[in-house]
Amino acid sequence: MTHTLTIPTSLEWHEDHLLILNQQKLPNIVEYLKLSTITEYYEAIVSLKVRGAPAIGITAAYGLAQAACQYETDNLTIFNDLFRRDKQYLSGSRPTAVNLSWALERLQGVIKHAQSVNEAKTNLLHTAIQIHTEDEEICRMIGEFALKELDDKRRVMTICNAGSIATGKYGTALAPFHLGREKGLGFQVYACETRPVLQGARLTAWELQQSGVDVTLITDSMAAHTIKEKGVEAVIVGADRIAANGDTANKIGTSMLAIVCDHYNIPFYVAAPSSSFDLTSKTGDVIPIEKRSGEEITKINGTTIAPENVSVYNPAFDVTSHELIAGIITEKGVLYPNFAESIRRTIVIK
Ligand code: MRU
Repeated sequence: MTHTLTIPTSLEWHEDHLLILNQQKLPNIVEYLKLSTITEYYEAIVSLKVRGAPAIGITAAYGLAQAACQYETDNLTIFNDLFRRDKQYLSGSRPTAVNLSWALERLQGVIKHAQSVNEAKTNLLHTAIQIHTEDEEICRMIGEFALKELDDKRRVMTICNAGSIATGKYGTALAPFHLGREKGLGFQVYACETRPVLQGARLTAWELQQSGVDVTLITDSMAAHTIKEKGVEAVIVGADRIAANGDTANKIGTSMLAIVCDHYNIPFYVAAPSSSFDLTSKTGDVIPIEKRSGEEITKINGTTIAPENVSVYNPAFDVTSHELIAGIITEKGVLYPNFAESIRRTIVIK
């Protein structure tokens, strides 16, 4: 049997629902779910059926636009009140990925001057679709810039899943591997499994296999040893929120990798779109870090692996100091230190 290599995607808009790839079930079950009510959208984001900063933003945009299209009123004041209520509800689904509030604010902006409820509804849906389609092109550009930056480096490590299924298509950190495969460049990718929820093992390993990229899975604690023994030449990761000085929040374990890169003197890159920058956060110290249920640590696949009642600390993200980052790869090009300066000059948030 021949298996056609494809770059998987996770979001497909249909007239009356968003079809999502259920990332909770991968890789064992490839299941698609329909979202059409605001509570379904909210639940899908909270439970990580949809995850990854850009995909969260796209999904929330569709969720809010679809909810607004269901309001049964012709009165703009009532419409705006309902919109604000639902916007607030969705923005509370996950705190760290700034793409969520970025997408919701962008929707708010396009109804400001609407003259009628119908005009507002049309603008919202149009903008949600635009956010989705733009993201695919943005990620392709990130991938092209990343390929240039990586130059002849082929042994690269990553953590979590900053891939095609976490975005409109291609991904951010994984974009150079997908594009590189299309160009016949033989990347060897080392994927950290990413405890506790295993986005690396379940999602990155699956996604790269689907598109024919050579991927080797390791546990998070093997990163330093693997970098040394396998001659890893660079690490590239995604971002959930980048502060004005370049400090970057990403999946827990990321800052540990950056510290190891510093020790072995190999470059540590962040790949992210402009929508992942939060210029109102001066440094990473003020970025909200999501704390998730302790059961993500005490259980694996429903099986308890820790003593009952043990106290658990489960921060889902950490902040990597800008001093450890060699470059931030965006759709506008690669930003280098001094980041406060290069971010200020380059990043314009729509
Ligand atoms: O908790 P998750 O799975 O949503 O965390 C995702 C990450 O940390 C990704 O690296 C980040 O959102 C970038 S996705 C292109």
